[in-house]
Amino acid sequence: MWEQVQQAPPDPIIGVTDGWRADPDPRKLNLGVGAYRTEEGKPYVLKAVREAEQQILADPAMNKEYLPISGNAEFNRLARTLALGPNSPAIREARVATVQALSGTGSLRVGAEFLSTHLPASFPRIVYLPNPTWGNHKSIFGKAGFQVREYRYFDAATRGLDFGGMTADLTAAPPGSVVLLHACAHNPTGVDPSREQWRQLLELTRRTRLVPFFDSAYQGFASGDLDADAAAVRLFAEAGLELVLAQSFAKNMGLYGERAGALSVVTKSREVATRVESQLKLVIRPMYSNPPMHGAAIAARVMGDPKLNAMWQEELRGMAKRIKAMRQVLYDQLRARNIPGDWSFVLKQIGMFSFTGLSRSQCEMLVKKWHIHLTLDGRISMAGLSAATAPYLAEAIADVVAN
Ligand code: LMR
Repeated sequence: MWEQVQQAPPDPIIGVTDGWRADPDPRKLNLGVGAYRTEEGKPYVLKAVREAEQQILADPAMNKEYLPISGNAEFNRLARTLALGPNSPAIREARVATVQALSGTGSLRVGAEFLSTHLPASFPRIVYLPNPTWGNHKSIFGKAGFQVREYRYFDAATRGLDFGGMTADLTAAPPGSVVLLHACAHNPTGVDPSREQWRQLLELTRRTRLVPFFDSAYQGFASGDLDADAAAVRLFAEAGLELVLAQSFAKNMGLYGERAGALSVVTKSREVATRVESQLKLVIRPMYSNPPMHGAAIAARVMGDPKLNAMWQEELRGMAKRIKAMRQVLYDQLRARNIPGDWSFVLKQIGMFSFTGLSRSQCEMLVKKWHIHLTLDGRISMAGLSAATAPYLAEAIADVVAN
């Protein structure tokens, strides 16, 4: 019966880790998936997370009952407050519907499904994604029935933002289209709009009547400051816009495999928010019934306990700082080898990734000859690099650029 099933290609991001695992070379490096590593190249469980986990296990009230369809209510409350801020008018007026979902991907998927069913009938089912964007965005919105279009984002010549192209494409979008915005630390480019450009994007979104959908996967990772990294989302929410927000706790709490995330829909009133939440539950129930409890319980404790929260923020600053330090180390190593071109973008780009501009064949050479595993669009995870491995990467880049 299954003989006709075709072999699917490996996932462009997760498949990189499979390739790295299978590589027997001792020099191998995994700079593919965006996962934080220590200076020793090891996965890192935050101390605040370990502490929260111990508290949960020691709690006699702990059980394994089903969570509600909308998940852990305390986690939802803390997650939306983290993004929208403690003084958010939308939260004060109880006009935000939040559900726990399966990290960033699951939140985006539930959000896309909800929009596809509940946007007004007169709105087109079109989503505008930045070019380039995280590879999964296209499939997520495509599966939810959206027509996927792109807006210009990255300028290959300057390795910066093509703001003119972005605003031209979004101005031309049909009213009612969804626009996907990376809240901070754009993946894969590490290039974000400036504060002033965000203000212009807000006006454009309002004028063109676009539906903003923020993907917030790196709050705290861009700058080490949770509030600073939420500035764009807060700007839009405080201007009174209705918006959708997907939050992941994979990176900023290191909860990758726990799948802790939240989807919030900011509405005009408490009544609407209540109805929206009831419909989000109808999306979730036939998909996976209700979300897993452990990751959300950890995240809720870490956010809600002042001592753990302070510990978390300190570790977050430490992780962001190490990634920034890696940018400097790599830049110095590249400069020391006199590799042609301006590599200052390595220092300027924000967040976990650096978008190198290396071609697909250069990337393939990095994988095959140098055992450096990366996505073939030229993205490298700076979080996977260490002072010990940066010289090797620079040497490999010098080689593939020269060939
Ligand atoms: C990445 O872009 O590497 C991460 O967001 C992990 C993933 O799920 O793709």
